[in-house]
Amino acid sequence: MGYQQIADQKLNALRNGTPTILAIESSCDETAAAVVRGRTVLSSVISTQIEIHKRFGGVVPEIASRNHLAAIDAVVRDALRQANLEKTDLDAVAVTYGAGLLGALLVGVSYAKAYAYALGLPLIAVDHIKGHVAANYIAHPDLQPPYLCLITSGGHTEIRRVDAFDRMEVLGSTRDDAVGEAFDKVARVLGLSYPGGPAIERLATEGAPTYPMPVAFKGEKHLDFSYSGIKTAVINLAANAKARGEEIRRADLARSFQDAAVSMLVGRAAEAVRRTGIRTVALAGGVGANSALRDALSEAGKRQGFAVLLPPKPLCTDNAAMIGVAAFEEIRAGATAASLSLDANPDL
Ligand code: KG4
Ligand code: ZN
Repeated sequence: MGYQQIADQKLNALRNGTPTILAIESSCDETAAAVVRGRTVLSSVISTQIEIHKRFGGVVPEIASRNHLAAIDAVVRDALRQANLEKTDLDAVAVTYGAGLLGALLVGVSYAKAYAYALGLPLIAVDHIKGHVAANYIAHPDLQPPYLCLITSGGHTEIRRVDAFDRMEVLGSTRDDAVGEAFDKVARVLGLSYPGGPAIERLATEGAPTYPMPVAFKGEKHLDFSYSGIKTAVINLAANAKARGEEIRRADLARSFQDAAVSMLVGRAAEAVRRTGIRTVALAGGVGANSALRDALSEAGKRQGFAVLLPPKPLCTDNAAMIGVAAFEEIRAGATAASLSLDANPDL
């Protein structure tokens, strides 16, 4: 029997069980590995490259790939050690194959393919965004669809209706920038260091929302998002102040931007509840670590009578535990084992 047949057979035997899965994530600037058993996390290791990319003001793809390559083996070994397991205790290997940076993804995909082949284990290809959604199952192991998921990462801003893990419908998405991208760009304009989201959140706590921000789609009836308007407003306010030789009130501007960004996310989530009648909203993605967003969404839930699920902050930003749990959900939903010709898909 060839590798693929063995993998397919083993995967079929796992459908109704609680498999132990090694998960690998390398789509951006975190090299991460985790071991999960069902929705339970046995270990989660993250080697971040933030300090390396900071001096460039953002992620440099080529440098990210090289650092993933240097880190991945130790990160995987650590994940197994912290889970107190041997390679031979694993039932499957999961890996993020997109979306993300091509070279960065390829490091994880190649490593996972070699690992799965060497051990004769099924390989599960995981969509990074579905990984973010799955972070909610770790904090809420009893969570069952249907629910709404507000996805707020560096590359995606969407509201999804989840009817099953393999049946998600995008109800609305951004028409321009992703919300995390807007945080990162605005941070740069304000002279803050990478990554911009946490830096803006810190600065905003010292400010008041005194700068006017445009409101996109006033009165329009859809669930899409837009961030280029408020981003451009910040850029213009900063440039005009500079031209007049005035000081910009940075904390106030950070706060004004953050309030506007949060208000659009919460407004769309609340509208999606109204439209679908589904009264559970799960948060996902890096911007989900933002306390102002978490508080505002929780407040809206109390006012409007919907439940709000907030993954712990470290599970909002990139990690491999969420990839492992997504793989578990894919296996239960009937996903097939990836072949050894699996390729990275940066635009997934
Ligand atoms: O989900 P994520 O870790 O990676 C992607 O899949 O993109 O999201 C990264 C994004 C970055 O834009 C980062 O600035 C933002 O999440 N972010 C935050 C916070 N922490 C991370 N944005 C606002 N407030 C935060 N505390
Ligand atoms: Zn992510």
